[in-house]
Amino acid sequence: MTAGVKQDVLDLLTEQHMQIKALFGQIARAEGTRKRDLFQDLVRLLAVHESAEEIVVHPSARRRIDRGDTVTETLRHEEDEAKHELAALYDLGTDHPDFDQRLARLADAVVAHATREETEEFPALRGSLTAAELGRMAGALRAAEATAPTRPHPHTGESARANLVAGPPLAVFDRIRDAVREWRESHRDGE
Ligand SMILES: [Fe+2]
Ligand SMILES: [Fe+2]
Repeated sequence: MTAGVKQDVLDLLTEQHMQIKALFGQIARAEGTRKRDLFQDLVRLLAVHESAEEIVVHPSARRRIDRGDTVTETLRHEEDEAKHELAALYDLGTDHPDFDQRLARLADAVVAHATREETEEFPALRGSLTAAELGRMAGALRAAEATAPTRPHPHTGESARANLVAGPPLAVFDRIRDAVREWRESHRDGE
């Protein structure tokens, strides 16, 4: 990520949509330990991303945009389904013969979900919130990322990262969500 460039929460989330999409492709092409590591990267990235959306972005959208209730209800439902499919894939294991096909289906669903956010939610939010509000909300993502840091992986080259938060998806999501909730509690003003 480019340091020093001030991005608001919607810029960051849109950038992550591209990273998520790319990661799905990388997992599909990988094998063995690398495939397992990349899948764990996906769990982490989706947990960071969806937690910030769930706790900070969707509640704002519900209150501030037209048809906010309907739009965010659909998004939350899609996120919940994706999280549970991610947990099922984790249990299945990256070496299982059904893994690739189910991962491809999940990728399609997650990309469609991201497109819905980028068309039905983000532009409306950008029109309803101030730049300062959107800038402040980026803190939720930073709080989530701080809970789930990555470090350069010693074996696979410097572009790869090893997860410091690993394990079953539901536990990873819970842990990161708690961190974003804490962040929200200490940044209540201006909502
Ligand atoms: Fe989402
Ligand atoms: Fe998203």
